[in-house]
Amino acid sequence: MNILHIDCSPRLESHSRKLSAGIVEKLLSILPGAQVHRRDLGFEPIPHTESAYAEVLSTPATLAAAGRTADALRLAEELIQEVEAADVIVIGTPMNNFTVPSVLKAWIDQILRVGRTMKSTPAGKVGLLQDRPVFVGIASGGVFTGERANQSDFLTPYLSAVLACIGVTTVHYLPLQATAFLDDAKADELRASLIATIEPAMVNLVSSLV
Ligand SMILES: Cc1cc2nc3c(=O)[nH]c(=O)nc-3n(C[C@H](O)[C@H](O)[C@H](O)COP(=O)(O)O)c2cc1C
Repeated sequence: MNILHIDCSPRLESHSRKLSAGIVEKLLSILPGAQVHRRDLGFEPIPHTESAYAEVLSTPATLAAAGRTADALRLAEELIQEVEAADVIVIGTPMNNFTVPSVLKAWIDQILRVGRTMKSTPAGKVGLLQDRPVFVGIASGGVFTGERANQSDFLTPYLSAVLACIGVTTVHYLPLQATAFLDDAKADELRASLIATIEPAMVNLVSSLV
């Protein structure tokens, strides 16, 4: 059983890092033998789309000519294979300006590819990967969901659309909100209660994978 653990915050004392670490810890308590593969986009950002990659993706012909082994696709292949190898994906991410931080967007730009992780049909894009559970721990300085929401949320609908595009539709969001106003004790309490809410889903999903 493989867990892909992705973090996106550039901060060490990060709420989303603590949340994703707590989710992974909970998964490991259910699946003690699971292997954890780390992709730390916050501390080791991947480059934004580069010229050779954009050239290859610019037309169906250039994409077909490149095949999977082209130098320009090496990073994309590595990242896609990390997703394919994962039975469960855990993402810790801040909300930045109502959506995902640019380091996560850079990862998305490498993961979605026609003919590899999705296909284009007259009815729209169809995912080519198997579904697998994704747990997304989000830290936001303000409030974007629930009765006290006072800002737009382009993060969860966007990330759900992106993942669905490659075939991944079982996505659970754990929003740790108003971090700008939390002391450590309150943050610990909220984090623990968020993780407790997804424990049954985690047990079900994981047992279906075993
Ligand atoms: C560039 C930037 C943009 C941000 N945009 C938002 C935002 O749109 N909404 C919000 O609630 N918080 C926003 N924040 C606050 C962060 O979401 C908050 O500090 C969060 O706890 C950061 O995650 P971390 O603790 O995992 O580092 C922003 C922070 C930064 C640095």
